[in-house]
Amino acid sequence: MVKVTSIEKTFESRKKRVKAVNKVSFRTEPGEIFGLLGPNGAGKTTTLRIIATLLKPNSGKAEVMGFDCMKEATEVRKRIGFLTSDMKLSGNLTPKELLQFFGELSHMESSVINKRIRDLASYLDMGDFLDKRIGKLSTGMKQKAAIAVSLVHDPEVIIFDEPTNGLDILTARTVTEFLKDYRRQGRTIIISTHIMAVAEKLCDRVGIIFNGNLVENDTLKELYTKFGDSNLEDVFFKIAEREGVTDNA
Ligand SMILES: Nc1ncnc2c1ncn2[C@@H]1O[C@H](COP(=O)(O)OP(=O)(O)OP(=O)(O)O)[C@@H](O)[C@H]1O
Ligand SMILES: [Mg+2]
Repeated sequence: MVKVTSIEKTFESRKKRVKAVNKVSFRTEPGEIFGLLGPNGAGKTTTLRIIATLLKPNSGKAEVMGFDCMKEATEVRKRIGFLTSDMKLSGNLTPKELLQFFGELSHMESSVINKRIRDLASYLDMGDFLDKRIGKLSTGMKQKAAIAVSLVHDPEVIIFDEPTNGLDILTARTVTEFLKDYRRQGRTIIISTHIMAVAEKLCDRVGIIFNGNLVENDTLKELYTKFGDSNLEDVFFKIAEREGVTDNA
């Protein structure tokens, strides 16, 4: 379970002050995929980094399975798999070596690590590049390797920032099917996306965020009923209009 209560985050530099996240609250339960949906700069990554213990909010609280993301960060980290687009894999190691390294960091036994690598490789269809150098892999292969690394310790809670960004439809499908399988196992999953089709296909509930404000938090069905539309793109435009938001990139 993930619970976020009234989190706020302001970035300040000499020139300007940006309120990236403004009193955002939501909760998500095991067996559910929650999607944070919003345009560029809306505050999605900032929110997810706060839950992932990488950023401290100015106020408010984030909790993962009852542990406080600020005060009990180590306990939280054991239980989450975090994927972000800023974390680009590169270098001379192979996916297998990297997975072994991260498994050891999580104090897993080598037999357990090896089984986990076999399972993840089969799940994510990584068999033919497990032993190739990461620097030489395609974008999709690198993304799969990054996903595998984030999951090597078999976390209960998955926090994926734009998991299908830059992937072709076949690779994107492997990733979304994988997330659905994790949902079936009763894990808690939070993703961010600005791709409506991803949210439509994958999410049980979506939180729509504009300028740091969570302006809607509903199941897809509730949103369609509320706005009298049967596709998320039209709903999204109606909400953007209501909020007075235009292209802000
Ligand atoms: N480390 C930082 N320092 C200063 N400003 C930041 C920092 N991180 C984010 N911001 C600002 O906070 C706001 C929210 O950014 P965030 O990355 O959370 O948006 P996002 O919804 O993930 O956008 P995108 O879809 O482009 O990834 C933006 O105005 C961004 O410029
Ligand atoms: Mg982002």
